[in-house]
Amino acid sequence: MCSPSNLSLDFRILLTLKERGLGLSGTLGPYISIVFILLVLFQPTYHVLNSKEICKEVKEDPRLKVFKKEWFEGKDCLDIGCNQGLITISIAKEYCCRSIRGIDIDANLVNSAYWNLKRISKLVSTSSQSSIASESELSKRVNGSLEQSTVPTNEDSGLPQNDLLNRVSFQKENFVERVCPHSEEYDVILCLSVSKWIHLNWGDDGLVTLFSNVWRLLRPGGIFVLEPQPWKSYQKNYRVSETATFNYNNIVFYPCLFQEILLDKIGFKTVENITESLPGSVTGFDRPIFVLRK
Ligand SMILES: C[S@@+](CC[C@H](N)C(=O)[O-])C[C@H]1O[C@@H](n2cnc3c(N)ncnc32)[C@H](O)[C@@H]1O
Repeated sequence: MCSPSNLSLDFRILLTLKERGLGLSGTLGPYISIVFILLVLFQPTYHVLNSKEICKEVKEDPRLKVFKKEWFEGKDCLDIGCNQGLITISIAKEYCCRSIRGIDIDANLVNSAYWNLKRISKLVSTSSQSSIASESELSKRVNGSLEQSTVPTNEDSGLPQNDLLNRVSFQKENFVERVCPHSEEYDVILCLSVSKWIHLNWGDDGLVTLFSNVWRLLRPGGIFVLEPQPWKSYQKNYRVSETATFNYNNIVFYPCLFQEILLDKIGFKTVENITESLPGSVTGFDRPIFVLRK
């Protein structure tokens, strides 16, 4: 599969190579160009999910089942390392947050998240339109008149269901190196399965920057939902780069110390492990999810 953004990126690489005099001249030039273009067209790229796959993936994510609607309802949220945005969009859709911003270091994933947002929002408005149609048909039959409401609303929050595009946004950003403007504030910040990558790529300094940026961005009373990968999971990935190997060998703040660091050094008031009491067979969890309150 080949997305337009990937294609243009690869053509930019092609142009850059040409600009730098790297080999597309001479008799072999045209053949090399054709091979390169074929490689671009048929390269494997990130998987863009279809609507059915999206619904299945989201439904089956056990983490959503342990989140509480009251954490998010009417709140401003940030999802660090949002990947393809499925959890981000689900929180807006199911838990009716006021706004949610997903950020990811990988531009391709951010593009993919926007695709998913468009598809899901289309699905939501199509299904709510057909349910409105059948509801109004029903009320016509029962009352002999149309119901007043024209915009589909979520029963609890009163939010229009098809306003996902207004409430959800995505941005390419490195959370460790970002400058947080003073005006930016959130009630809930999620960091699910991201800390290991930040830890391996930026070491203990990166981890402390992650935690202190989260603290700074949270409103008083706000919550930080952290799903850290355990130390044994670092062992699978520390060879991905020299930097990761170096950082891995120099880590002092092991994941088993995160709770202590967040409470005693960063300043969170309380911490709860929301998966501790749940049997793994029910939830499919093999790692803790901490909910910390500022
Ligand atoms: C294992 S995925 C987790 C995705 C999602 N949070 C979930 O739990 O399903 C880790 C994500 O973090 C992103 N990431 C890693 N380092 C990051 C950074 N410094 N800033 C923003 N995103 C980052 C990666 O690109 C990747 O999408």
